[in-house]
Amino acid sequence: MRPSLAERWADHLPQLAGVPVVTLGEGSTPLLPAPRLSERLGIELWLKWEGANPTGSFKDRGMTVAVSRARADGAPGVVCASTGNTAASAAAYAARAGIEATIVVAEGAAAASKLAQVRAVGARVVEVPGTFSDAYDASLGLAEREGFAQVNSTNEHRIAGQMTAAFEIVEELGGLPDVLTLPYGGGGNTKAYARGFLALAGALPRLHPAQAERRADTAASAIRIVDPIHRHEVEEAMVRSGGAVVTVSEEEIAAAWHAVRHEEGVFCEPASAAGIAALFAGAARPGERVVCVLTGHGLKDPAAVERAAA
Ligand code: F0G
Repeated sequence: MRPSLAERWADHLPQLAGVPVVTLGEGSTPLLPAPRLSERLGIELWLKWEGANPTGSFKDRGMTVAVSRARADGAPGVVCASTGNTAASAAAYAARAGIEATIVVAEGAAAASKLAQVRAVGARVVEVPGTFSDAYDASLGLAEREGFAQVNSTNEHRIAGQMTAAFEIVEELGGLPDVLTLPYGGGGNTKAYARGFLALAGALPRLHPAQAERRADTAASAIRIVDPIHRHEVEEAMVRSGGAVVTVSEEEIAAAWHAVRHEEGVFCEPASAAGIAALFAGAARPGERVVCVLTGHGLKDPAAVERAAA
């Protein structure tokens, strides 16, 4: 059996020393060359395919760490607020760990297939009126009342686990890329990549997180977050890396999503295409080596394909 993510990067995950690891085979995801988009954009583009994780998104990297710790610390269960992917991941790892999971979502905000993933492994779904922030507040209340471990990205174990994606990129490319692009929702993943690159390589690529212009109602439902909780750390990483947040329109996300599917054969979910949209908007200069993180699988939200009329 290949080593779990926690075994592979044990030196960087001290919080798991002596802790039995809850794993579903996360991490070690493909770094795919993207020859057609590279040619069209005049850059050397690589796709970090995080849809290849066990529950279909990058969240599994952090969840193996957070749920392992929660169980070791004696928590009866985990709770999170989510636009869907954190939920699917928390539910699966909790089932694997033999503890409960409660998921709080804003009414009507998460893709149906993601909620199916949650229910399929026996987790409880609580819907609250309002936005992601309201769901987040409700999840904090539940954590306090029930003694559940909160496994949103405010849980530092999540961030620690997500750093491993940056480690894999540095290892596979033999160094840092010039540029990294990825979708920007709450900003936890941007923060994790920045920390990961600094920890392993002592420097940063230029970071270009891509946010939806219409944060409140973007079709890219995974990043439908009005108030990014890690905003300050993201801004710090921009200064330090010489990068900038790129704001992309609904049309730009749709066009980028179409391009990565039709030209490279990679079916990611709409939010994952935000980083590609940033590249079409000029985030990278000619000849640069660029990694774009595709954060979640297209099967997470198949109805989005029908809505976009393929
Ligand atoms: N891409 C996907 C597919 C996501 O599910 C998320 C966040 C992001 C990107 C943004 O990452 O928040 O670290 O900047 N999804 C969270 C969830 C909010 O509940 O699943 P971020």
